[in-house]
Amino acid sequence: MMRSEQQHAFPRSWYPLCRSTDLKRGQIIARHAFGHKLAVFRTQQNQLGAVDSRCCHIGADLSRGFIDDDFLVCPLHNWAYDVQGKCQRIPCGRSQEEIPVRAKQPALYCQEHYGVVYGFLGDSPDFPLPYFPDTENYIASNVRIIEFDAPYEMAGANSFDEQHLAAVHRRQVIGEQQITSLSPNHFAIEYRANVAPHTLYDKFLHLIGKSRVHMALDCWGGNLLLFKHIGTANQMIISLLPVNATQSRAFITTVLAKRGNRLLRPFQWSAVRLLNIFTMLFVKQDVKALQDIDFAFTTMLPEADNTMIKWYQYWKRLPRNTLTGSNSTTVKSVTSTVNESNPTSMKPENIAQI
Ligand code: FES
Ligand SMILES: [Fe+2]
Repeated sequence: MMRSEQQHAFPRSWYPLCRSTDLKRGQIIARHAFGHKLAVFRTQQNQLGAVDSRCCHIGADLSRGFIDDDFLVCPLHNWAYDVQGKCQRIPCGRSQEEIPVRAKQPALYCQEHYGVVYGFLGDSPDFPLPYFPDTENYIASNVRIIEFDAPYEMAGANSFDEQHLAAVHRRQVIGEQQITSLSPNHFAIEYRANVAPHTLYDKFLHLIGKSRVHMALDCWGGNLLLFKHIGTANQMIISLLPVNATQSRAFITTVLAKRGNRLLRPFQWSAVRLLNIFTMLFVKQDVKALQDIDFAFTTMLPEADNTMIKWYQYWKRLPRNTLTGSNSTTVKSVTSTVNESNPTSMKPENIAQI
């Protein structure tokens, strides 16, 4: 991204940057996120960092640098940055006091969880990384990644879109969807749906005598989606990353609570792998339908689109940040707006091209 390009603001949240296994000690990898190139790294002491890869000196690519002990070192003049992005060493005879205050890279606060390295977009985390409370003792699948050409928030909205459940997945919602919210960062629904033997996963459910599912879906920060299949041990987390305003990446992990004695463990490992493959196939249906979407709320149905509209309103209210740190409450990454006083009436004049 050129310096002159517009900075896009995204909700202050934890974003998935890479798999934990992609990043060994002493390694740096380049990843694109929020319209920027990042240098994501793990120090020799196992500290995680993610900084804008354009060095604040004269712009060399830090992802082509190297790790020296606890620092990410620029390949060109060897300025050394810590995991907060602060320059701690300039080798050309400068003392610590002479390092300019401005010698600092925009940085994300990093943590890893369920096999994914996350970075928080914002000065400090507003909420902890969410997890399934009963799976402290868990088995997590490998992390699978899907890329798609659509704004990342469309995948969030899609998870709360009742119409697509029937149209894309042949799952018909029965009864009311229960909507709850624990904080401004959180939005959740619970629903029951009849399942047709359409996908491999739903054929499997039929095979084991389940023609109805009871799902709980929690969303944190607008991009962390925790699905719980109530009545079974199956849980999954889908973490979404805006690569830029129109391209996205989804990280998918299946999580099972450890149950029973150790002798059952090999079966649980097989189950978690199988469920993760089913989930991937399920999500691929969404990706196929969402690819290249030209998003605009134009003709909405008051009831059938209600939950999706409410999710979008929640997402739109989330506090925002850019990678370079300026707080913003303005949504610059979407192509339409919702009339909150009458959310089912989206008029063309409400659509603001940005
Ligand atoms: S460009 Fe990075 S230290 Fe000079
Ligand atoms: Fe879907």
